[in-house]
Amino acid sequence: MTRAQQRALTALWQRFGVDAGVAPLDPTVLFGRHAPLVLEIGFGDGEALATMASTDPMANYLGLEVHRPGIGHLLLRAEALALTNLRVMCADAVEVLERQMPDDCLDQVRIFFPDPWPKARHHKRRLIQPSFVALLVQKLKSGGQLHIATDCEDYARSILSILNATSELNNRAPGHGFMPHPMHRPPTKFEQRGWRLGYAVRDILFARRDRIE
Ligand SMILES: C[S@@+](CC[C@H](N)C(=O)[O-])C[C@H]1O[C@@H](n2cnc3c(N)ncnc32)[C@H](O)[C@@H]1O
Repeated sequence: MTRAQQRALTALWQRFGVDAGVAPLDPTVLFGRHAPLVLEIGFGDGEALATMASTDPMANYLGLEVHRPGIGHLLLRAEALALTNLRVMCADAVEVLERQMPDDCLDQVRIFFPDPWPKARHHKRRLIQPSFVALLVQKLKSGGQLHIATDCEDYARSILSILNATSELNNRAPGHGFMPHPMHRPPTKFEQRGWRLGYAVRDILFARRDRIE
């Protein structure tokens, strides 16, 4: 971690940070206003998240990450851009979703380049599993969108098959396959590393079907 990132974690936490715990999150209190809520899980260095928040000021953006240098990097960007619609948690996404995120409250969930764990014996460590998708479905509003991108071909196919098999979700891509790169997704650091290695990127976009009352 650089000294600037370390300093940001201390000096800017009160402004942008949300301490993880067990109390339910109240997005209106966290942001001081009611607005559509976008959650990014595993934002890495946060460059893409800072760009999305700055170009979409009408929405509230919440980022979850466990890598502290990346969080420090994002806090510095958030300060430089004077963002008021961004909050950050240093916490495991599964724990936050299970313990603190109210049901039916997310307008968008974005997961860009989740750790690929390419070896077959490590596939069980992958974030996108049926149980995790069931949790996300619980937290998404009706019509809320789940957008995942990856450059790991077999992970992309696994994610597509898990999501296509989730009855509460509807594939937004033509032909129920992958989506052309949506304009609102800025390139990420991990993605640019993949470009240099010649990897193809897959975008996957689903929407939560209406809940039947
Ligand atoms: C391959 S990196 C991609 C980072 C960034 N999205 C990008 O594209 O540059 C995956 C990120 O997910 C984070 N991560 C993995 N599991 C997580 C979890 N359960 N909760 C929050 N973040 C997680 C890692 O710390 C890492 O920064």
